[in-house]
Amino acid sequence: MGYSSSVYKAAADRLFERRIKAEKDADRRRMAIYEKLPRTKELEKQISQCGIKAARAVIKGENVVSEMEKLRDQNLSMQKELKEILISGGYGENAFEPEYSCKKCGDTGYYDENGKTLVCSCMKQALIACACEELNRTAPLTLSTFDTFSLDYYDKAEDTSIGISPYNQMSKILRYCKSYAENFSKKSESIFMKGATGLGKTHLSLAIANEVIKKGFGVIYVSAPSLMQRLEKQYFSRNDDDSAINMLLECDLLIVDDLGTEFHGQFSVSQMYNIFNSRMLSNKPLIINTNLTMRELEKIYTERFVSRISGNAQKLDFLGNDIRVRKK
Ligand SMILES: Nc1ncnc2c1ncn2[C@@H]1O[C@H](COP(=O)(O)OP(=O)(O)OP(=O)(O)O)[C@@H](O)[C@H]1O
Ligand SMILES: [Mg+2]
Ligand SMILES: [Zn+2]
Repeated sequence: MGYSSSVYKAAADRLFERRIKAEKDADRRRMAIYEKLPRTKELEKQISQCGIKAARAVIKGENVVSEMEKLRDQNLSMQKELKEILISGGYGENAFEPEYSCKKCGDTGYYDENGKTLVCSCMKQALIACACEELNRTAPLTLSTFDTFSLDYYDKAEDTSIGISPYNQMSKILRYCKSYAENFSKKSESIFMKGATGLGKTHLSLAIANEVIKKGFGVIYVSAPSLMQRLEKQYFSRNDDDSAINMLLECDLLIVDDLGTEFHGQFSVSQMYNIFNSRMLSNKPLIINTNLTMRELEKIYTERFVSRISGNAQKLDFLGNDIRVRKK
């Protein structure tokens, strides 16, 4: 799919930074090893001089073949010694080589196969991530993390109608969300968060988004009203550029907050349904938050819509008292 030139640039920059970091790390490692195992420095120097010596032998033209053989043997034995020293010093035998994040392309984003230059999967992933970030520019993404989520706000007394305390319920939910973020993959399950206002639904979904973005996945966080606004703007302007809609379908994780609070006309309901449905059909994870009850949602979106999304997701029922009020 096509991206804007700023997305291409951001993705290329991201890979470039990875490559430079791997190379700088390797330089730093080399300096530390030279200090600790000085013989390695000498060996590297001599190995690099083998090439110059070979060139000299060719220019001189005397006994080129036997001179070359001698140099090659020397080179091999020095390489062997170098590896042995590195290993006995507790390093890997390739400790001087940069450790690229992508072994396939060396963090260049491209690799050659059968004489053709191909775009590496790490570049494709960086493009998705950068395209999502561009769409998230106005979202309050970095404000809520797992570290700033506290269980102290939830009562330890059992809610007799449900048979569990808000504290225990929210501990379970927090554990689930942390493990979800930690083990996230493109095939992770979907989540349906529901509960009254001010209980941490937005907070925990942003915390998940932050962790998953750090792993390099493309995440779009959007509130249902702003999603609808974007979809309608695109619809009414008959804009041919449908890349924003494509990203909603393509991104690795789509988070739709405050479902039910948007203006719900016929058009918005069917658009939303189509997006959710296509993602579910291709097993792409979705996180939906709502502070409406199932009954209220059904009134807006029909029973079919609601049972389809809740049936395909892990349901998390948030309990407690409004934390916005408690924090004041
Ligand atoms: N467990 C928590 N620890 C610390 N802060 C919290 C916690 N839960 C919520 N908050 C904070 O309280 C405020 C309200 O939480 P949040 O927006 O996540 O609620 P919500 O469940 O999404 O509510 P709504 O249904 O109204 O959207 C936010 O500022 C959030 O950071
Ligand atoms: Mg919220
Ligand atoms: Zn790669």
